[in-house]
Amino acid sequence: MKKKILELIDKKNKSKIVSLTAYSKNIATILDNFCDVILVGDSLGSVLYNYKSTREVRLDAMIEHSKSVRMGVKKSLMVVDMPHNTYRNPKEALNNAKKIMSETKSDAVKLEGGKKILQIIKMLVKNKIPVMGHLGLLPQTDKTFKFKGKKISERNKILKDAQLLQSAGVFSIVLECVETSLAKLVTKKINIPTIGIGASNNCDGQILVFDDLIGLNSIDFRFVKKYSNIRKEMKKAVSSYARDVRSKKFPLKKHSY
Ligand code: KIV
Repeated sequence: MKKKILELIDKKNKSKIVSLTAYSKNIATILDNFCDVILVGDSLGSVLYNYKSTREVRLDAMIEHSKSVRMGVKKSLMVVDMPHNTYRNPKEALNNAKKIMSETKSDAVKLEGGKKILQIIKMLVKNKIPVMGHLGLLPQTDKTFKFKGKKISERNKILKDAQLLQSAGVFSIVLECVETSLAKLVTKKINIPTIGIGASNNCDGQILVFDDLIGLNSIDFRFVKKYSNIRKEMKKAVSSYARDVRSKKFPLKKHSY
């Protein structure tokens, strides 16, 4: 296994894992100073392209954004989401994962699901492609966006899936919108790190969509803490620019050739 991945696993029970999404180079350059993991998430479908769901995200788009992100990531572990319908069987998954890894030079791929995709994950791991799992709310396939872990059957399934993913060789699992005590149980029962989003502080690490964290997205989610109001700052900058252009204060001589 790659050194960076072993170092990430080693953080379990020692120090919390910090993770964020990035879709482009400039943002990745900033995050790289602070994050252990940078994910090129298929959330870019809704965040950047206004798609109704991540199901519409295509492989080519993931690859182009990942190439950009790769230019900004020097230290963190870079993970790329495999989009919907790119891993329907082991052969398709292997071809597409190989394409992602070779064209983007990313360190790993992330796939959503448990028992259903076990053979697919095993195929990737057998071919030395590091895989991050994703359980709980699964935006690529779930019909409703509700938190997971209310029903006993759902709790048992998520715990079992986490154990199966671990035995299939994933190096870490994202837990999305998972009830607090279930996130705690899963995290305790497996030896690889869990990374939570809306899954309490019981996980080994946290991930957020960067645009949510800085307040660029105007939608509010319960599980997001906004660390800045970047929209306000951006509006201020653009309105100053517009005012300067209209009043002929920009450009000045020093901005001209
Ligand atoms: O697509 C994404 O950004 C994700 C995170 C929310 C974990 O999968």
